[in-house]
Order: sequence, then C-alpha cells, then structure tokens
Amino acid sequence: MSIPPIEYLPDATVDALLDEDLRKLLCLCFTKPCDAVFKERRYFHEPPSHRWLMRDEAAMAIAHIAVHEKYVVVDNAKYPIGGIAEVCVHPDHRGNGYAKQILAAIDVWLLSQRVEYAVLFGNPKIYASSGYHQVTNLFHDAVDSEGKPYFESSKAMVKPLTNQNWFTSEAYLPGLAF
Ligand SMILES: CC(C)(COP(=O)(O)OP(=O)(O)OC[C@H]1O[C@@H](n2cnc3c(N)ncnc32)[C@H](O)[C@@H]1OP(=O)(O)O)[C@@H](O)C(=O)NCCC(=O)NCCS
Repeated sequence: MSIPPIEYLPDATVDALLDEDLRKLLCLCFTKPCDAVFKERRYFHEPPSHRWLMRDEAAMAIAHIAVHEKYVVVDNAKYPIGGIAEVCVHPDHRGNGYAKQILAAIDVWLLSQRVEYAVLFGNPKIYASSGYHQVTNLFHDAVDSEGKPYFESSKAMVKPLTNQNWFTSEAYLPGLAF
C-alpha cells in the first residue's frame, strides 16, 4: 500500500464528521481510564491549534498528531515551542513509520513558523529516533489529587530544530503538560 499523504489542518477547521472520526481514533489508541475524555472531546486538557493527519482510502483518520502553540520562559525571556500531543496511529497501520513521518513534517512546519524547539511528554523509545532527547530542567504547572497547584518537573523530551541547543537554565512552561 502506498504511504497516505500527510495533511495539515488548523483545529478550528475540524467539522463534526472529522471530530467524530478523531475521537474514535483517540479512543482506540489511548485506553487508560483518564483517556475516557476522548469520548467527549478531541483533546486532553486544552484544544491544540494544529493537527496533522493521515487517512485511509475511505478517508478515515489512521494517524494523528496535535501541536499546541506554547512557550517556555528561560531567564526571563520567552521562547516559542511546539507542544506535540496525541501522537497516535491506528493499530492496523502501526510499524510503518507513520508517526515518524508526521513528526518530520511538523518539524518543517514549526521551523517555517520560526519555532525552534519541539517539546513532548512521552515514551523515549518512540521519539529518540526522531531526534528528541530527555531533559530534566523543564517545569510546568500541575495540580495534585486535592486540587492544589504545584510545579512539576516531568521528564520532557525536546528537539532543537536549528543548531541552537536546548537551554541549560531552568525552563518554565506555563500551564499543564500536554
Ligand atoms: C506509538 C505509536 C504512535 C507509534 O506509531 P507508529 O506509526 O507505529 O510508529 P513508527 O513506525 O513511526 O515508529 C517510530 C518509533 O517508535 C518505536 N515504537 C513504535 N511503537 C512503539 C511502542 N509501542 N513502544 C516503544 N516504541 C515504539 C518504533 O520502533 C520506532 O522507533 P525506531 O525508529 O527507533 O525503530 C502507535 O503505536 C500508537 O498509536 N500507540 C498508542 C498511542 C500511544 O501510545 N501514543 C504515544 C504516546 S507517548
């Protein structure tokens, strides 16, 4: 089978049909109890601005990655980042490099938007070959089980998209992880 084309679409252009299709794919791919949110909506905490898709011959979504427009604060300066989320491929289409190919397309787009870093929270085994590496100096907002806010230093993965390395100072990402 030929490789399906990669489509970019702003989230604002997602219609009711595609919304349902995306939620189906998200529910199929993300099965932890907390992922039940995808039954009702096509995002986890907050809607992403951008989406990339592959579809099958019947135009059903089979691969998907969302991108949030975010920034980090480092030494009092703001730097835009692409927040990669909801990376998923239909079980029948896994192992074909689709996730990797979409990530590569997103790199090109982010650079065209002058965004120099992609950031995600995920399994290093999936993303290392796409050029992501783990960092320990990224902090973001979080809420504990009693609803109390705190700063969390999750194991984020980053990918510098230019020859500029990731920051050595602490990087604060306002908001929850994506
Ligand atoms: C993870 C997922 C997106 C991979 O999609 P895919 O199109 O099969 O991935 P690719 O073929 O592009 O593979 C990219 C890399 O991830 C690795 N990989 C794929 N699935 C993996 C898994 N379940 N565990 C560990 N590594 C995995 C591949 O071996 C490849 O690494 P390599 O280049 O070093 O060989 C897909 O299995 C999926 O939707 N899983 C359920 C949702 C999920 O877990 N999403 C990721 C959240 S962090």
